[in-house]
Amino acid sequence: MKTFLQEVSLGLSKKNKKLSSKWFYDFYGSKLFEQITRLEEYYPTRTERKILKDNKTEIANEIGKSAVLIEPGAGDIKKIAIFLSSLDKPKKYIPLDISEDYITKLSQGFKKKFPKLAITPKGYDFSKNNKLPFKINSSENIIIFFPGSTLGNFEKKDAVKFLKMLKSKFKAKKIIIGVDLVKDIPTLISAYDDKKGITAKFNKNILQRINTELGGDINLNSYKHLAIYNKPKKRIEMRLKSKKNNNIKINGSKYLIKRNEEIHTENSHKYTIRSFKNLTGEAGWRIKKTWVDDKKLFSVHCLHLDKLG
Ligand SMILES: C[S@@+](CC[C@H](N)C(=O)[O-])C[C@H]1O[C@@H](n2cnc3c(N)ncnc32)[C@H](O)[C@@H]1O
Repeated sequence: MKTFLQEVSLGLSKKNKKLSSKWFYDFYGSKLFEQITRLEEYYPTRTERKILKDNKTEIANEIGKSAVLIEPGAGDIKKIAIFLSSLDKPKKYIPLDISEDYITKLSQGFKKKFPKLAITPKGYDFSKNNKLPFKINSSENIIIFFPGSTLGNFEKKDAVKFLKMLKSKFKAKKIIIGVDLVKDIPTLISAYDDKKGITAKFNKNILQRINTELGGDINLNSYKHLAIYNKPKKRIEMRLKSKKNNNIKINGSKYLIKRNEEIHTENSHKYTIRSFKNLTGEAGWRIKKTWVDDKKLFSVHCLHLDKLG
């Protein structure tokens, strides 16, 4: 299994330099992301929250009784609270995140708010085929809650693999998933390049982590945050563009990041209802129900197992 250092040295040695967006999220990165969700430009969070709130009874009906709720990439674990009180005797809530300290800390507040529900936060990297950090009882009503359009961060083929894994490994019966929709480009770009520069800080946190955790000597001011829309692939791409030739050292190894060279750090794929339907179909899931906001900015879906899948 590759470590942070191995992934960084591989990613920076490539012709097209690339680092995984999962490395944004240490405790500080998770806090920055939480700040992003409150920005005027960042429509996904407030829109998805409104969809969940407006449709909580229907969502609760879809989830059913005695649910074991598992939330991969749970982050600030705020969205589940929107419909939790509408559920019929939920059994357990298991938030999972790569940012383990962060979900552990936030779970403490959650426990106070919902003292009757068993909550067991776990550090877990869902991009690897690791053993689950908890036991699965396949006879239970296992529901995956996957909001925030986190699926959009996956390349399409990996999104299919992930949805299949929710079936085979997590033994999920249903998925409640939030998916960002294709829309006008200026709205998309400003959501990922805000005026206050919080997203730029978030993007550069990957470089900061290389410095603090891997002994790097990267000057963060030598890189510019970029958010571009890749129209053919229908995705926002975040990149860090080098303002000059940067000779950097990480853990004793040298790398040259040339002037104007870019390090690709994140993809955020946007779907139409149809393209998402096709994706779920490939993974053996069927859309049972879709909820969207009035402006059709964001969608939430309930997926059922496809009999054929
Ligand atoms: C786009 S944010 C969404 C957060 C939250 N679910 C929401 O809706 O606001 C993605 C979340 O997934 C987590 N994450 C990213 N890559 C991950 C990985 N490989 N394994 C586990 N968690 C990951 C991040 O720490 C972050 O909390």
